[in-house]
Amino acid sequence: MMSVTSKSIDFVGKNLVYGGCFSNASFDRYTVRNYAKVNSKGFLGRGHGASNSICCKKRSTQCRVSSIMNIVESTLNGGTQAIQGLTGLDLKNYSETPISSTQLFDVVADDLQMLNKNLQSIVGAENPVLMSAAEQIFSAGGKRMRPALVFLVSRATAELLGLTELTAKHRRLAEIIEMIHTASLIHDDVLDESDLRRGKETVHQLFGTRVAVLAGDFMFAQSSWYLANLENIEVIKLISQVIKDFASGEIKQASSLFDCDVKLDEYLIKSYYKTASLMAASTKGAAIFSGADNIISEKMYEYGKNLGLSFQVVDDILDFTQSAEQLGKPAATDLSKGNLTAPVIFALEKEPKLRDIIESEFSETGSLAEAIELVKGCGGIERAQELAKEKADLAIQSLQCLPQSVFRLALEDMVAYNLQRIA
Ligand code: FPP
Ligand code: MG
Repeated sequence: MMSVTSKSIDFVGKNLVYGGCFSNASFDRYTVRNYAKVNSKGFLGRGHGASNSICCKKRSTQCRVSSIMNIVESTLNGGTQAIQGLTGLDLKNYSETPISSTQLFDVVADDLQMLNKNLQSIVGAENPVLMSAAEQIFSAGGKRMRPALVFLVSRATAELLGLTELTAKHRRLAEIIEMIHTASLIHDDVLDESDLRRGKETVHQLFGTRVAVLAGDFMFAQSSWYLANLENIEVIKLISQVIKDFASGEIKQASSLFDCDVKLDEYLIKSYYKTASLMAASTKGAAIFSGADNIISEKMYEYGKNLGLSFQVVDDILDFTQSAEQLGKPAATDLSKGNLTAPVIFALEKEPKLRDIIESEFSETGSLAEAIELVKGCGGIERAQELAKEKADLAIQSLQCLPQSVFRLALEDMVAYNLQRIA
């Protein structure tokens, strides 16, 4: 993997247009971001489209996205194939320039604030019983990653269509997505009998299973109603498929517990159902409401899907590598419950003994700890890291069709931020 320092090169952020897509990775993200701070109320690119350029200062920090160098190299060589090999993300560099989630969502902070206000009233307004639960639900330390994705893609794509502000439909979509996500977690905690999420007591733990199931049901129902009222059949189909996928993912997972013959492909399908489907629908739906064409909408779908898959693989690695305190829930719960994730699937290829231990469902004292050590000792974690990176690279690749802006940079950073969790 090539990684470079860009000391010797003055980048000029001139957009290069290849086959209808914008290739402008030569923007300096820090310069663009600083520029954005003074322009944060509107789209960065009024006048920053294909003909515009922003001069960027020399950078002394190592590139996190080595694709920048590929573009520069090809451009210097006069190559028209600069797109090739554009997506190398260097895992080890992520620890050097940590990204915080606040930093990440800086450019859509106002949008997220508005969303937070609306969410509380949506659940509470008609249901005083759920009001106190709603507070717990929506303020339990979630990062609002999915609505942030909606806002970032909305803003990144709106510019293409000459929109200067988000529409009510973009905002409603973000609310729907967060409601669906939250509802699925409330139900998931009931099914998993989990008492803690993000270090806080879960809804069913605090208010009982009845309230938890009803709160989840209400949010699924409310989101469906809002969805129908968006009156866009493509988005309605897209999002209702996600709700079906959630259920399929849970069923798939429940029917393959402790199954050591589970294949990586099946794991990825399940991960798509459980995680990537919602992210893909978030990003595609946002593009549709900006009026983007099919090519861009599909690229946004691919971005969300691959980010989601990478995100799930990283989560599954962290289940092995982090402490209960760091996770905000007991560690190694996946394996202990028989949910075999990427690190285990890879480890099973190398370590036959692991199969016996798992198939005995950890009946012997100390066998869970032994299994965890076997997974760690035979390269299961490293191979899962590679898989997370592979999906991250694909996600970055899909962003090439967007014009350069602070929003596209934040979408790239989202991919980096996720990988940084395991760097
Ligand atoms: C978290 O998984 C759970 C999900 C991402 C989806 C949960 C979906 C459901 C419970 C289905 C909802 C039902 C209907 C009818 C739509 P996890 O347990 O692996 O992760 P965790 O550690 O965050 O709990
Ligand atoms: Mg769970």
